[in-house]
Amino acid sequence: MPETALIVGASRGLGLGLAREYTARGWHVIATERGTAGSGLTSLAATAPALRIETVDINRPDQVAALRQRLDGTRIDLLFVNAGIAHGPGETLPASSEQAFLDTMRTNAWSPLRLIEVFAPLVPPTGVIAAMSSGLGSVANNTSGGWELYRASKAALNTLLRSFAHRAGAGRTVIAMIPGWVRTEMGGANATYDVATSVRGIADTIAATRGKPGCHYIDHQGKTFPW
Ligand SMILES: NC(=O)c1ccc[n+]([C@@H]2O[C@H](COP(=O)([O-])OP(=O)(O)OC[C@H]3O[C@@H](n4cnc5c(N)ncnc54)[C@H](OP(=O)(O)O)[C@@H]3O)[C@@H](O)[C@H]2O)c1
Repeated sequence: MPETALIVGASRGLGLGLAREYTARGWHVIATERGTAGSGLTSLAATAPALRIETVDINRPDQVAALRQRLDGTRIDLLFVNAGIAHGPGETLPASSEQAFLDTMRTNAWSPLRLIEVFAPLVPPTGVIAAMSSGLGSVANNTSGGWELYRASKAALNTLLRSFAHRAGAGRTVIAMIPGWVRTEMGGANATYDVATSVRGIADTIAATRGKPGCHYIDHQGKTFPW
């Protein structure tokens, strides 16, 4: 029986790439989008019959609860929350509104963990729970500044994932994944990696980390980062 991945935030960029990678690896993939307009999932589904498209905005608890209900009884071997937002390298705290801070924190830290709390009971102890972090979330490596709200939100995501891993108990593999700097709408055209290279590395790293308990802050090449 194929394994099942739930990839949340898969309309484009890295999330769509993960959906493509896991279907190519023979997994049953449930991939989510917020709406059909502009989503790449429809064309992927034409070539990947094992792909199921679902809808959820992670900032909408009613939609998260409805998706959880639709997936009731489904075993999810990999839960991967990929959804995230950023406002760019020039973003500074003094130039930002309180609302921008709250929106970034909500989408990148609060909502991913709230969703993980809701879906964790569907993930067996042998499964993996992951969220897309960023190298910019490392407090230790912040020697250059920039991306101020984004950095704060990914550092918060990392801390909440570590707390979740402690509370979820021994044996659970939790991953704060760093995809590398990738050519997507968020990463821009000058980024180092294409999506296919990043997601291949992410899937390989998840496979290698599976079964190792605790919270792992690692990149798509399997390298551990300092918190
Ligand atoms: N690209 C990089 O170099 C890089 C580096 C480090 C980390 N990351 C992280 O990797 C993840 C994916 O980034 P990307 O580069 O692929 O960005 P992207 O091309 O901008 O895609 C972002 C994805 O997140 C979804 N999303 C945003 N808000 C959402 C919400 N409230 N509910 C559900 N889905 C939502 C978007 O859906 P819509 O299409 O509906 O907007 C889209 O599918 C993010 O968490 C990002 O922080 C990226």
